[in-house]
Amino acid sequence: MATVTYDKATRVYPGQDTPAVDSLDLAIEDGEFLVLVGPSGCGKSTSLRMLAGLEEVDAGSIRIGERDVTHMPPKDRDIAMVFQNYALYPHMTVAANMGFALKISGTPKAEIQRRVLEAAKLLDLVEYLDRKPKALSGGQRQRVAMGRAIVREPQVFLMDEPLSNLDAKLRVSTRTQIASLQRRLGITTVYVTHDQIEAMTMGDRVCVLKDGLLQQVDTPLNLYDTPANVFVAGFIGSPAMNIATFDIIEGGRAKLGEADVSVPRSVLTKVSDEGSDLVTIGFRPESLVPVSSEDVGGIPVTVDVVEELGSDAFVYGHPAGPKAAEQTDRMRSDTVIARVEPRMAPAKGEKIVLKVREGESHFFSVKTGERIPQ
Ligand SMILES: Nc1ncnc2c1ncn2[C@@H]1O[C@H](COP(=O)(O)OP(=O)(O)O)[C@@H](O)[C@H]1O
Ligand SMILES: [Mg+2]
Repeated sequence: MATVTYDKATRVYPGQDTPAVDSLDLAIEDGEFLVLVGPSGCGKSTSLRMLAGLEEVDAGSIRIGERDVTHMPPKDRDIAMVFQNYALYPHMTVAANMGFALKISGTPKAEIQRRVLEAAKLLDLVEYLDRKPKALSGGQRQRVAMGRAIVREPQVFLMDEPLSNLDAKLRVSTRTQIASLQRRLGITTVYVTHDQIEAMTMGDRVCVLKDGLLQQVDTPLNLYDTPANVFVAGFIGSPAMNIATFDIIEGGRAKLGEADVSVPRSVLTKVSDEGSDLVTIGFRPESLVPVSSEDVGGIPVTVDVVEELGSDAFVYGHPAGPKAAEQTDRMRSDTVIARVEPRMAPAKGEKIVLKVREGESHFFSVKTGERIPQ
């Protein structure tokens, strides 16, 4: 077992002006399941490949435990990688696929058999050991790819979108299997996905990347509750947080079109210190409650769609009122999403007023996008 440390690790691809990964500082604990997440092209695979030794590190360094592996060949790093495309050898049985790396490294035959059987038991693959990959389902092939990594008993597992070839239902069950398997084995794991739900459900901690830059690394709940900036706020959570830029007006309030939200004093002070009279405000769908339209402070919304899911109901609407158009320009998305009591949802076309629950607004600097603490 081992820790993994990125120390200002940077990768600039030849011919590129900007780094694909820019001064990444990240300390992963021994036995931790760390997920790298972010939109396509943000540098997730590059970060992982730098750790694997498949991509050069142009500046900074990477350590596994106390070993500086920055310029070490991949085979000496004691890692095992699971890729999106499992690349199983089609002419070999499951057992031979799983044991292949051990065979290459000269492990005695009896030892290979022992480790393959042990991994096959863990992965529920014992009865398939003599089959060829083409006689397996997608989920079983994915497990063989996992098995191939497990038999090597590495210090670190690296996984790059290992579930993206599975259908939606299988992806959900397999992610639970991988997470519980990792916890049982206790092997430090770095897992890449572009899917924030996958990241949130699997990771001990989640590291959010954008344009090669680390945005925030924290536990799933801390990311959700206190996103460090507007990007993380909008990226983590489904349905997404409502985010818009408001004008600060008299009386500790912020206004946008017809929408009117209260702003705590500490935030007002910070914004005026910045010389601004604008603030970006975010509120999650579950932080909104319908109120009677006479209430002071609220967000008038016309209901477009209602999603009744049984346990939850979501209202998708657009800003209502004569000044609604100016509001839309300042919203991150043109819909307002609210979670309401299931079976009590308003009707399509109805006009409702939503209010943000006390203390549940998130505030961000318009200038930097950084969170303004309350
Ligand atoms: N071999 C390469 N040569 C040049 N640019 C690359 C290469 N591989 C990736 N990139 C670029 O580096 C950035 C990060 O890529 P990548 O790490 O694959 O992102 P992700 O895995 O998050 O989708 C992207 O802009 C991508 O186009
Ligand atoms: Mg990738």
